[in-house]
Amino acid sequence: MDILKTKSDMREWSKKKKKDSKTICLVPTMGYFHQGHISLMEKGKPLCDELVVSLFVNPAQFGPNEDLNSYPSNIENDLALAEKAGVTAVFLPDKKNIYPENFQTQIKLQDLPKFLCGKFRPVHFAGVATVVTKLFNIVMPDIAIFGQKDYQQLQIIKQLTLDLDFDIKIMAGDIIREKDGLAMSSRNAYLSKVQRTSALSLSKSLNLAKELIAGGEKNPAAVKNRIEAFICTFPETNIEYISFCNPKTLENIDSIENHVLLAIAVKVGKTRLIDNALINPAQ
Ligand code: PAJ
Repeated sequence: MDILKTKSDMREWSKKKKKDSKTICLVPTMGYFHQGHISLMEKGKPLCDELVVSLFVNPAQFGPNEDLNSYPSNIENDLALAEKAGVTAVFLPDKKNIYPENFQTQIKLQDLPKFLCGKFRPVHFAGVATVVTKLFNIVMPDIAIFGQKDYQQLQIIKQLTLDLDFDIKIMAGDIIREKDGLAMSSRNAYLSKVQRTSALSLSKSLNLAKELIAGGEKNPAAVKNRIEAFICTFPETNIEYISFCNPKTLENIDSIENHVLLAIAVKVGKTRLIDNALINPAQ
């Protein structure tokens, strides 16, 4: 497995592979790998000749009061896991290499960041869109894979790929969960024992919503009220949003008729957790 620490080395590597007619798949990450990350690598492995993982904690996507400085990291372990998953190259740049002095460009989408997490994290998606655009230009992949766990991020990346004419196929990986249902996240490492139990309120809420909808409930407000009351029974929880929305536009819907996205963000102690489910009332 090759480790490329600068964008010029990464670009040279990709150019060489392309010259040899190799296809490249990219899995962008911020490291501290769990099975969610690994599942994206496993999905990409059979689809390409070269599997590249980028590992970069992107400062541009963290707000001033967010956890940039405490974001968990274990690069040695990440490299071992990547190798085991069949990754052929890890792109591991430092901040100065990605954002040199006098860096001044931002990629901002018009509508998709207005909803869900974007409402509460005003700089986040411009930071994500900018770094992913740079990664696409540096690695030049044929395929890039993102997790449905960050549903809004995935939609934003699909849209920017279309808008900016990247010739890259964007693929989605399912949400990988712990045995008890908690969606895997690098941020789960922050949770105390009590908070870990409270964190389960998110996935349990999605199940509760599915049950209510399967029972014929079509009113999003009614389901939201039930979920809100349920989450509040768990200690240290603070709901940021519970949204029923159109899975493409992310706009709120007022009746649960077709496929809907239910997306939830809850602060458990200081840790912000998200989860979501696509729900089809016909099923
Ligand atoms: P990070 O949080 O490290 O996540 C990297 C990828 O793993 C993302 O596509 C994310 O959706 C996916 N992922 C995380 N948890 C998952 C889970 N439980 N199941 C399935 N996939 C999961 O997302 C980012 O990094 C950054 O914003 C990035 C795209 C790298 C840009 O900086």
